[in-house]
Formats: sequence, structure tokens, C-alpha cells
Amino acid sequence: MITTKLLDGSKTSIEIRKNIKKIIKKEFINKKKYLPHLGIILVGNYISSKIYVNNKIKECKNIGMNFTLKHFKSNYSEGDILQEIINMNKNPLIDGFIIQLPLEKHIDKNKIILSINPKKDVDGFHPENFGKMALDMNSFIPATALGIITLLNKYKIKINGKHTVVIGRSKIVGRPISILMSRKNIIGNSTVTIVHSKTKNIEFYTKIADILIVAIGKPQFIKGNMIKNGVIIIDVGINNINYNKILGDVDYKSVIGKASYLTPVPGGIGPMTRIMLLNNTLKAALNRK
Ligand code: GUN
Repeated sequence: MITTKLLDGSKTSIEIRKNIKKIIKKEFINKKKYLPHLGIILVGNYISSKIYVNNKIKECKNIGMNFTLKHFKSNYSEGDILQEIINMNKNPLIDGFIIQLPLEKHIDKNKIILSINPKKDVDGFHPENFGKMALDMNSFIPATALGIITLLNKYKIKINGKHTVVIGRSKIVGRPISILMSRKNIIGNSTVTIVHSKTKNIEFYTKIADILIVAIGKPQFIKGNMIKNGVIIIDVGINNINYNKILGDVDYKSVIGKASYLTPVPGGIGPMTRIMLLNNTLKAALNRK
């Protein structure tokens, strides 16, 4: 039996929050005399999107940032959203903004993302930021991926030369984290395999992973018999079962005693993602001319 250590995202996010608050006080309250400001565009009525957005707003209030929420509830067109993006791009008081995903089918997601000013793209989804990330240039990095590497770094987990298996190739998590883990960088230099819905024999890959990053949105998908002893597991899943219990993508009980490190759900990657969005907003605000 191995003692599985938990990678505590809640505790780590509290430390980062303290640091962001300190910078807001020093640079904004005392010097610039205004607060960093996050814009949020919420489209439609997805319950999970509303929960995510509410949590982001709570975090803004908690940390002392301004926010503007624009919610298109129904009878909106793609043009309405594009107009709001133009407004936020132009608004000198808004440092950065996000459009909560997913979007409904009649909205062209690529057109929406391409219309965001990359300097305000605190989600890091615009091709200018995504491309810069892939080229090791300074950019906004998607919050979940940034949260994962920040947590690994916090616990001084060695990534260099390890085999990372990423399950899921979403543009929000799987794709960006696979790029970051393989970058020629202090945090990176890992050998990365991406596993997805068309992969044959997923277990072959999960069993040879040194680091397993699971982001597929299937509750308790990874079981103890699919991993090797000592693996480091990052569970990105936030699956709402009947809206009263949150389960990760990893069967927690069956991997305890086999994994060396594990992120709990809740309290692992979720709080890290929220705080990293605000960290990106702070970065945008510090760049405001
Ligand atoms: N939906 C799920 N995760 C995210 C995220 O990180 N950003 C946005 N904009 N939408 C999401």
C-alpha cells in the first residue's frame, strides 16, 4: 500500500488569493485608484454554466475585483453577442472578459472567440494566445491548465522526463494541458500522450502513465485497476449527480493506496481554475495603459 497524498487545491488557491489581494491593494487601491475589472458574457440557460459563472462572481467579490455580467437569456442572435464583445473590447474600464462555454448550436463559437481582443482574452482561447502558448511565448493560459501546472509546481512534483497521459482533447482543458506538459520549460519537458474517444484500448495508456490527467466528464471513469502503482492523478472532472453530489472522473476510493498523489473532487482543480481566471484578469489589469 502506498500512502496517497492529496494535492490540496483549496488550500493552494487561498494562498494565491492572498497574494492577488496584496497586489490589488498595493498596485490598484493605493496607486492606480481603481480596481481590476472582469467582464462575463453568459449565454442561454445551461444550469452548469450558471453555477460556474456564479462561482466566478463570488470569487471576484471575495478578492475585491469589479465585474460586469451580461446575460443573454433567450431570443438573442449571434450579432447580439458579437456587439457585446465589441463593447467589452472597447470599454476602457474592463481589463479582461470571458464568454462562458458551451454556446448553443446556432452560435458560431469560432467567430465569437476570434472577435475577442487578445489583450483582454483572460480565458486564453483566442488563437493569438493559444498559438503563443504553443510557441513558449508569454500569453494568457487557459485557467484549468494553468491551475494544474501551478498545483504540480506548488507540491514540487517533478514533471521533467515523466510520461503524462491526458484523457480528453477538449480545447478548454485536454488540448492546452497537453501542450503545457510537453513545453520546453521549467514546468514541462514531459512526454505526452493524448487519449480520446477514438483511442483503442485506453487502459493500455492509463496503465503506463506516470502522471494521469483526466478530463472527460465521465463520473468515476478511472478505476484502481487501470493505473500503475505510484501514479500522480489529476482529476479535472466536475460531474453533478442529481445536482446534490459532485463526483470526479476518477473513482477516488479505488485509487487511494495506489496513486502517490491525487487531486480531490471537490477541493482540487475546481478552486485552482477559479483563482487562475482572476490571476489572468490581474495580469491584464497590470498591463492596462
Ligand atoms: N466552460 C467550462 N470551463 C470554462 C472555462 O474555463 N472558460 C469558459 N469561458 N467557459 C468554460
